Amino acid sequence: MIKRSIPNFLAVTVMVFMTVFIALFLYSNIHLKNKITLQTVQEMEFISDVFAKAILDVMSGGHDKETYAVITGYGNLMGVEDLGIYKLTGEEAFQAASLRPEGGSKMIRKIGPADENFWKVSETMNLADFFDHDKRTYTRYVPLRSEEACINCHIKNTPLGILKVSFSAKSHFETLAHIQQFIWVLGLIVALPIAGLFISGVIIRDKNRLYSQLEEANNDLRETYNNLSETKYYLQMILDNSKALIITTDTEGKIVEFNREAEALLEYKKDEAAGKDVLMLYENPEQRNELISRSRFEDGEIWAARNREVTLRSKSGKLFYINLTLSALVDDKGGVMGTVGIGKDISEQKMLQFKLIQSEKLAGIGTLASGIAHEINNPLAGILGMAEAIRDEDDAGIIKSYANDIIHYATDAGKIVKELSAYSRSAHNEAKSTVDLSVVVEDALKLVKHATPLTSIEVVHNLGKDSLIFANASEVQQVFVNLIINAIHAMNDGGRLIINCLREGKFVRATVSDTGHGIPREHINRIYDPFFTTKPPGKGTGLGLYIVYRIVTKHGGSIDVESAEGEGTTFTLKFPAVDDAQHST
Ligand SMILES: Nc1ncnc2c1ncn2[C@@H]1O[C@H](COP(=O)(O)OP(=O)(O)OP(=O)(O)O)[C@@H](O)[C@H]1O
Ligand SMILES: [Mg+2]
Repeated sequence: MIKRSIPNFLAVTVMVFMTVFIALFLYSNIHLKNKITLQTVQEMEFISDVFAKAILDVMSGGHDKETYAVITGYGNLMGVEDLGIYKLTGEEAFQAASLRPEGGSKMIRKIGPADENFWKVSETMNLADFFDHDKRTYTRYVPLRSEEACINCHIKNTPLGILKVSFSAKSHFETLAHIQQFIWVLGLIVALPIAGLFISGVIIRDKNRLYSQLEEANNDLRETYNNLSETKYYLQMILDNSKALIITTDTEGKIVEFNREAEALLEYKKDEAAGKDVLMLYENPEQRNELISRSRFEDGEIWAARNREVTLRSKSGKLFYINLTLSALVDDKGGVMGTVGIGKDISEQKMLQFKLIQSEKLAGIGTLASGIAHEINNPLAGILGMAEAIRDEDDAGIIKSYANDIIHYATDAGKIVKELSAYSRSAHNEAKSTVDLSVVVEDALKLVKHATPLTSIEVVHNLGKDSLIFANASEVQQVFVNLIINAIHAMNDGGRLIINCLREGKFVRATVSDTGHGIPREHINRIYDPFFTTKPPGKGTGLGLYIVYRIVTKHGGSIDVESAEGEGTTFTLKFPAVDDAQHST
């Protein structure tokens, strides 16, 4: 407040100074001018009165010659510009010889014919009116009245004529001009500092106004900053207290935000993780790329992948199953700034699910086993029959041939048991090796054939030779067992099952097609979801395709489905191929 009143006070002071100064300036200007003018006029009047007195004295002598001589004498005095006596009619009576103009006599100018009124007119005139600015002269008209000496010829105190004297007023005008100049200089000397003061006052005022505006802006900014800090602190609190993992990245996938839950689970400190590629957290980086490419455009969001399962790896290498919702981080203007991932650790849930899957798998083996038991029953019956026959037989040759049959039946049963045990080998066995996908598919088909009668189903297969992949054979076999069983279930009234496995460039491509009832459009996006099934309770768990999807992606492969209701379904799988050369090294 104090700062602001200073320029105002200054401005008022300067204004008062200026006003006083201008008033003084005008007053002194007019006053001095008048004083000097009055002084000049008084001097001139005095001289002209002296002239008039002297001339009257001479004139009363009645000698024109002397009158001329006196007039001429005065007329030649320095400073006298014009000197003459005029009759009352205004015509010239005497004129100083040296001043006489060429071309005859003169009339009194300005006033016109002189009479009694002449004096009245001349008295009402301003003093300044007698100054001629062009000629720089001062003219005085003095009445010549009859005196004692004149009463012989004239009545006393009657006007006889007019004395006109013009004095040079050069010096008068010069003095005025000098005074004027002096006052101007003085005025400038006083006015310039005042003006300077005024201007600096204005500048200071503007500066202070700007300063206060700046201060206001600064305060606003500080307030905004405080609000922002509060908001930031609040947001940070939300992030840190959230029991969900929150990880944000920039557009290049570099980690920006890494909340406390993420720190606790993944064992990286925020500072350590910030700026690093988020892919380092994924067990399989493809998962993230797939999430982004598969996510849908929804309600103004650019993209969002909701509740997807991903596997993240902690700093010490522990794996965590995370239910992740990944979406684009979009600013007010719709520009993508990066991604925000909000995840929940579902590892425990997942373990329970695995246990369930394992038990379901065992249950599945049970289903398979009932079919297989029937298959094994035949060789067992054969073995039993042959063994009984051997018991009553003495002929070594026949016994040998029975023994050969027993070996044959036992080998058959052994094969079936082997196939079943390959399937039931626990998923704990993670070992991968180079396997021929055609062989794995063939084994899967055999296994299913043992378990399920395919009487009304025609099976066509084309299994190529060059189909090596790097995989866990029992898991991949599980994939095809599931796909084939699904296909068979879809063809209750019979149909055709077509299985292909061929090398295609850098991939081995396998297809399982059926001519069954097909998958309705509304189900197609849900078939890989765990527990999604259209089968009646007790007939299906809905885990088949879920397991298939997991195994395929785990092997770096892909799975696609094409289906038409009432026409059939084709599952296409692709696995990275392994070359023979690679294999042999
Ligand atoms: N070849 C197919 N033809 C038609 N529908 C299919 C086919 N394969 C899968 N489905 C549909 O997808 C659903 C899910 O299949 P999935 O294998 O995951 O479970 P399921 O076969 O029902 O049960 P489970 O395999 O656990 O015994 C099936 O219920 C069925 O509706
Ligand atoms: Mg199934």
